[in-house]
Amino acid sequence: MTDSPNYRADFPVLAQTMNGKPLAFLDTAASAQKPQSVIDAMDAVLETGYSNIHRGLYRISQDLTAGFEAVRAKIARFIGAKSEKEIVFTRNATESINLVAQTWGRTHLKQGDEIILTAMEHHANIVPWQLLQKDIGFTIRIIPVLENGHLDYDTYENLLNEKTKLVACVHISNAIGTVNFVNEIIEKARKFNPEIKVLIDGTQAVVHGAINVAEMDCDFYTFTGHKLYGPTGIGVLYGKTESLETMPPYQGGGDMIERVSFDGTTFKEPPYRFEAGTPAIVEVIGLGAAVDYLMDIGMENIQAYERALADYAAQALEEVKGIKLYNGSNTQSIFPFTLEGAHPSDIGMILDQCGVAVRAGHHCCMPLMQRFGIEGTVRASLGLYSNRQDIDQLVKGLRKVKDMLD
Ligand code: ALA
Repeated sequence: MTDSPNYRADFPVLAQTMNGKPLAFLDTAASAQKPQSVIDAMDAVLETGYSNIHRGLYRISQDLTAGFEAVRAKIARFIGAKSEKEIVFTRNATESINLVAQTWGRTHLKQGDEIILTAMEHHANIVPWQLLQKDIGFTIRIIPVLENGHLDYDTYENLLNEKTKLVACVHISNAIGTVNFVNEIIEKARKFNPEIKVLIDGTQAVVHGAINVAEMDCDFYTFTGHKLYGPTGIGVLYGKTESLETMPPYQGGGDMIERVSFDGTTFKEPPYRFEAGTPAIVEVIGLGAAVDYLMDIGMENIQAYERALADYAAQALEEVKGIKLYNGSNTQSIFPFTLEGAHPSDIGMILDQCGVAVRAGHHCCMPLMQRFGIEGTVRASLGLYSNRQDIDQLVKGLRKVKDMLD
């Protein structure tokens, strides 16, 4: 595929210049820009149809309730869930994982059990388990990362044992872009013991290609709205019905109960049991518009376009003198690198002067940085609106960095 589709035109923020240059926004892995259709959908609710949901007897509340629940069903279709009842709305992927830790984990894990994480997890898939570990006393085992940026699948097989209760693994690494073989991870866990639960953090994966959680056969799949071209403040937890049904509420409050009295309270069925209080109504509508936007283009088309652009970027970056790239084979849209003689923060600041937005630092993956013996990297990450001009601008900026710092 060529550089032809002009998705960039759908994103008003990208029309501006930055420091006198076109804005080359290469920090999509941190948060994606929003298409006009998402902005319009949220504006429309606020301007013409806003109210609380699930409560009002009047027309705009009932219409918005229907619109809100339609997004739940849309997301179920988008990720191949069997039912919209398997879709829980949360604040973000971080909250989705905390919810699983504090409800499923607190109910099912006990002292002496083991859970398996990987050395490339985002802090959001490490710290919630550590917090719970302090209370319960289970053991956390880690699948190492090889020099080539892939998980050590042989060690994974050896880590599985009769004490293993959960495997929690990122689908695509936000820091090095590795696409993990999650089907293999799930199959191996199932083969060893069908009772082992598998949680996949799909935050970066759901953005770049089609996902089917039912085929994947994971127990939990998490992602956030703001990286999926939707708003902040809204995330998703997919949970298999049979798992969600075993989990107690996460937070208590309105909308998640059947009946409250001072003698005791009963709770709604999943997913409502996990959604206490007024939800992020406008943000859910925005997320629905983002999913419509993506489905109209087609996730397969997005993946093909981004893969072709990533090939172009890989080739262009490899030609920059002194660069060391930290992504290997089977990576998607994420280019972490260091540049000889330059600190990542300095590179980030000079690139900003060239109109190029990148992230510099540990990318919320300190254990992975420790694994590679570095403090951090500069990370250029692509979205569907990225194009060759962005890459060319980045490469030109890096040459300027070399000139200034050499
Ligand atoms: N976790 C986000 C990132 O990768 C913020 O940059």
